[in-house]
Amino acid sequence: MAVRSRPIIRALLIDISGTLMIGSTPTQRAVRALAELRRSGFPFRFCSNTSKESTSVLQKRMVDAGFEVQTGESPELWTSLKAVQSLIRTRGLRRPYFLLSEPAKDECISAGLYDADVPYDAVIVGLAPALFDYDHLNSAFRILVGEDDSQKGWNEDPKASIPLIALHKARYIESSGHGLALGPGPFVAALENATEREAEVLGKPSKGFFETVIESLDCEGHDPEGCIAVIGDDIQTDLGGGAIELCLWRILVKTGKYRAGDESRDGVHAPDEVCDSFAEFVESLLSARFSKQ
Ligand SMILES: *[C@@H]1O[C@H](CO)[C@@H](O)[C@H](O)[C@H]1NC(C)=O
Ligand SMILES: *[C@@H]1O[C@H](CO)[C@@H](O)[C@H](O)[C@H]1NC(C)=O
Repeated sequence: MAVRSRPIIRALLIDISGTLMIGSTPTQRAVRALAELRRSGFPFRFCSNTSKESTSVLQKRMVDAGFEVQTGESPELWTSLKAVQSLIRTRGLRRPYFLLSEPAKDECISAGLYDADVPYDAVIVGLAPALFDYDHLNSAFRILVGEDDSQKGWNEDPKASIPLIALHKARYIESSGHGLALGPGPFVAALENATEREAEVLGKPSKGFFETVIESLDCEGHDPEGCIAVIGDDIQTDLGGGAIELCLWRILVKTGKYRAGDESRDGVHAPDEVCDSFAEFVESLLSARFSKQ
């Protein structure tokens, strides 16, 4: 169902979990739809807020589910973990406190600056169900307010400078086979509330994240005419924030964590289009393109 009439679309940003696949199962006809999109030469990128698994584990899960994913020079898969790695490097962070799953943490540490002998200099939070308890959250809180033992005796006022960084702030997620489950958002909010500051959000839907992904498309010299579209199952995490600021064409799919009425809930910016599935959107995109030629 098109809410407004669709403009010319020049590239597509694709959410993975809930849109392309749920757990390790592709959504209906998604594998074929993606293959058709690729065959038609239509530019696209995968965008994931994944913080539970590393980029390479996610990529393997996609490939195992039947999707082709290009790596190398211009990788197609963009995750918030990649964004964190580049932030660790540009800010020169040497010892973040990670509330992250093991594989995600390893990926961040491989940014190469980690030094266990200096005081904690950041708190980085992603989806880490095993660590979301009082002790871990309290450690994060104490680091943010400069009360951690590692920070004692260092000259600088640690409190002023320790950033709270969130990979994303999804309030809840769709866990495969178990329905809705708590995301990292409420835990980040607890730290924000206790420290009276706002987290920097690196992944979707931050403007910076979308801009980086779009730049990677533009680098390939694609036609700059037309709109960039973004497709996902979460009206806020996938299609909110930066997607609105950058005037992307926003398509909500009715798979994954979508629940009836999400598109017209109070306080949400209504999507430009609502589709039953990723495949349905791709089919209509390609047939519109074909009929124009
Ligand atoms: C990321 O957001 C999507 C919504 O598109 C959600 O389905 C998914 O579970 C989230 N992933 C994590 C790791 O929180
Ligand atoms: C923290 O949460 C309480 C309860 O909701 C609220 O009254 C207070 O304004 C919040 N403080 C901050 C700094 O967000």
